[in-house]
Amino acid sequence: MKTLRLIVLQALALAVLGAPAAAADFVDLRRIEPVSGDAAAGAQKAAALCFACHGADGISPVPMFPNLAGQRADYLYQELLRYKSGSRPDSPMTALVQPLEDADLRNLAVHYAALAANVPAPAEPPAPDLLARGGTLYRQGDPGRGVPPCQGCHGADANGHPLADATARSPYRAYPLLYGQHAAYVATRLRDYRSGALAHTSNDFIMTGVAQRLDDASIDALAAWLGNLPAERQAR
Ligand code: HEC
Ligand code: HEC
Repeated sequence: MKTLRLIVLQALALAVLGAPAAAADFVDLRRIEPVSGDAAAGAQKAAALCFACHGADGISPVPMFPNLAGQRADYLYQELLRYKSGSRPDSPMTALVQPLEDADLRNLAVHYAALAANVPAPAEPPAPDLLARGGTLYRQGDPGRGVPPCQGCHGADANGHPLADATARSPYRAYPLLYGQHAAYVATRLRDYRSGALAHTSNDFIMTGVAQRLDDASIDALAAWLGNLPAERQAR
């Protein structure tokens, strides 16, 4: 009896040890190494490959192409990795980033992060009631609908998480800043999170949970308010 139990236990132990370790089905960004790179080399690559869509100064001329100037390097690098792996779907970026080396992606990220976010105010100022709603949602959320305040993670002035630089390995380094981002791009991205189209990293899960609380009117208000921040800053 005793030997039988021993044999069973040994068989079980073998089965457990022999089983291949289950691979996580998402990229865990909670402990990332800070990104470093060669900004000058990144600038050269950017001039050849990125200016047409993201602008020579990282401020894009088209509202569906995001501004990159001043964005956090760790966030940019992670997004570039996603395009390389094809996990940010249906993008002109995918084919572009595919042939680049890891070092190129780091250099590009460091280059764009170092540019000043001299975002121009939108040509058409959004309607005042839209702005008011967006500002309230951003600062206070909507507790009745379970919408958390965006500023908790993206900063009071939308310049990134308040603790992004608190420690060398802060996970908040990969939280994007949203200051002056094109409204059309922000709205599209929020809808992508809401539909579950972006579910590749631990950070995606955070934003998916947030976006699923947002209705279309809230998304449009938030996008309008974020895109209008440069005008608000100038008016101060
Ligand atoms: C043909 C136009 C085009 C070119 C050229 C281009 N991009 Fe993009 N890029 C886009 C579009 C459109 C998006 C946003 C939507 C998406 O994912 O397709 C984007 C998104 C990004 C993002 C994500 C930003 C964010 O806030 O999440 C990064 C980073 C980026 N591009 C970097 C680059 C770099 C670096 C280059 C040059 C190697 C480059 N892009 C060249 C069109 C372009
Ligand atoms: C609990 C933290 C948290 C809260 C609250 C939060 N976000 Fe985010 N947000 C994130 C993280 C993390 C990412 C990066 C996800 C990724 O890597 O794709 C992100 C990404 C984004 C992006 C994509 C930016 C880009 O350049 O593509 C937008 C837009 C955004 N958030 C808007 C909002 C808005 C609007 C709110 C408030 C309704 C909000 N977020 C609340 C953590 C948060």
